[in-house]
Amino acid sequence: MDSPPIYTMMGTPRSAVDAGWEHAYTEYPRFAAEYPWSDVVDTLTQFPGERVYEVGFGGGHNLLWARQHGWEVAGCEIAETPHRIACEKLDGADLRLESMVDCSAPSSSYDVVVDRAALTCLSPKDLKRALFHVRRILKPGGVFFFNPYGNLQTKPFPDVMPPVTLWEERATRQLFPDTKWETIVFEHVIVHYDIVGPNREHTYRIRVRKIGRD
Ligand SMILES: C[S@@+](CC[C@H](N)C(=O)[O-])C[C@H]1O[C@@H](n2cnc3c(N)ncnc32)[C@H](O)[C@@H]1O
Repeated sequence: MDSPPIYTMMGTPRSAVDAGWEHAYTEYPRFAAEYPWSDVVDTLTQFPGERVYEVGFGGGHNLLWARQHGWEVAGCEIAETPHRIACEKLDGADLRLESMVDCSAPSSSYDVVVDRAALTCLSPKDLKRALFHVRRILKPGGVFFFNPYGNLQTKPFPDVMPPVTLWEERATRQLFPDTKWETIVFEHVIVHYDIVGPNREHTYRIRVRKIGRD
């Protein structure tokens, strides 16, 4: 039987979660980082290829780093403000304003797909649909980096951020059955910010490789 993740957004319609991201950027324009994330850089360094796709690329800093290091870059972003900012930075790149749940990118096209804290805001049902597309657009043998929040999280999220799904380990592993994915790395990362009360950030660093062709 499937293990349930901890679902903190029960009852919030997907349209409201998606709109919440544009609201977050409007309230706090520097919401996304202005530097590439080391986990993304490590993934692209460890698994070199030609084409990378980022789910929820925000201001585009991960993709900018990738382009500067020889990758052809593409991705999708749900919110208009970061999409516009990234398009200004990444002239000519295939950057689509759409949800990964409805991804229209071409099949079997990317060596690496990266998700840095974007898909964690989807409900479990929508995440499964998004992961269907991740697998569809990866080339055979391509690698996916996934970075959701975990169930040991106690640190509050910024008020402006849409609600997230906190993933329990067993439920997270079940997203990547070994008939379809080879698990390369599955790590918990727990950071303590204990200045006031128990303030724990819990995320996963997961790297999986697509097995098979479809
Ligand atoms: C925490 S930010 C991270 C931005 C970027 N990946 C980075 O590392 O700086 C998450 C991003 O995912 C986008 N996002 C959330 N849900 C999405 C979805 N279903 N499809 C595409 N983008 C989404 C948000 O608008 C936001 O820009």
